[in-house]
Amino acid sequence: MSSPILRVDVASLILTHPIMNASGILGSEPEHIDVMASWGLAAIVSKTITPEPREGNAPPIIMPLRNGGFINAVGLANRGKKSVKELCNRAKKLGIPLIISIGGSSSKDFVDVAEEAERCGANAVELNLSCPHTPGYGIEIGFDPSTVFRVVKDVVGVLTIPVIVKLGLSDRVVESAGKALEAGAKALTLINTIRAMAIDVHSARPLLSNIFGGLSGPPIHPIAVRVVYEVYKEYQPDIIGCGGITTWEDAAEIILAGAKAVQIGSALALGRARFVVQGVLRGLVRWLKELGLRSVAEAVGLAHRR
Ligand SMILES: Cc1cc2nc3c(=O)[nH]c(=O)nc-3n(C[C@H](O)[C@H](O)[C@H](O)COP(=O)(O)O)c2cc1C
Repeated sequence: MSSPILRVDVASLILTHPIMNASGILGSEPEHIDVMASWGLAAIVSKTITPEPREGNAPPIIMPLRNGGFINAVGLANRGKKSVKELCNRAKKLGIPLIISIGGSSSKDFVDVAEEAERCGANAVELNLSCPHTPGYGIEIGFDPSTVFRVVKDVVGVLTIPVIVKLGLSDRVVESAGKALEAGAKALTLINTIRAMAIDVHSARPLLSNIFGGLSGPPIHPIAVRVVYEVYKEYQPDIIGCGGITTWEDAAEIILAGAKAVQIGSALALGRARFVVQGVLRGLVRWLKELGLRSVAEAVGLAHRR
């Protein structure tokens, strides 16, 4: 579904509507690009790609929760930077914008994949500075505002395409967001999964092989709304809201907190993804009209009004 009222401009990308997938929901193989394009997304975000291939963690790596969420510890399994070209070629063929998500344990890793993404024609990169369950590859970087600044600055320095920075929950997330923007990030994706665990009461052992995983889905939605609200209040940057979005009301809520676009992860992974996307879009159109607004942009951050 597309309607002029849904058009958004985020991180210098002009999109037909505000919905993209969250990284890790498919997006590691070229065939996934076809599948995700058929869901009616405005842009596709790849699985996080590191310079070298990674096998990820041993199973069990994902635990579905009763309330629609997951705890996952996939461990950034991916085919490495050699997969970027195929993904970009497939997206170009379909005419859908592609954002390459990048993971790494150093600035050099991020720069390496980012340069490949730009060379291959990606529309933007998203730096995953927030994986909560892969030591050395994410949250440790995002937790420390000065490291965020250095990594983002290094990547921005070598690219002409927009750099989006994905942060997770931390006590210093507002400060890290500020440093990412100061270093030249065009937008922030807020938030990643939240470190969590589950224990099997019969074997009396942790359920995931990695012990810890990242919590996603409806349980994290109010936290995502709070983080988006706080960061928007401080800097009014371009924000892509992410965390527990399942219905149009969830999307509308995070837009009112300050997001210009949204990413959906767990709700798409549960199946009937096209139905979820179309349902959110239809609901947003009705809602915007009901409020007498002419665009998504007019709703962004409205909850900050006094
Ligand atoms: C199975 C799974 C794999 C994920 N892999 C990645 C990843 O590779 N990179 C990343 O930045 N986020 C990853 N995430 C986090 C999502 O992109 C998203 O930030 C998070 O799930 C919150 O959104 P949701 O509540 O809509 O799922 C993953 C999430 C899940 C459930």
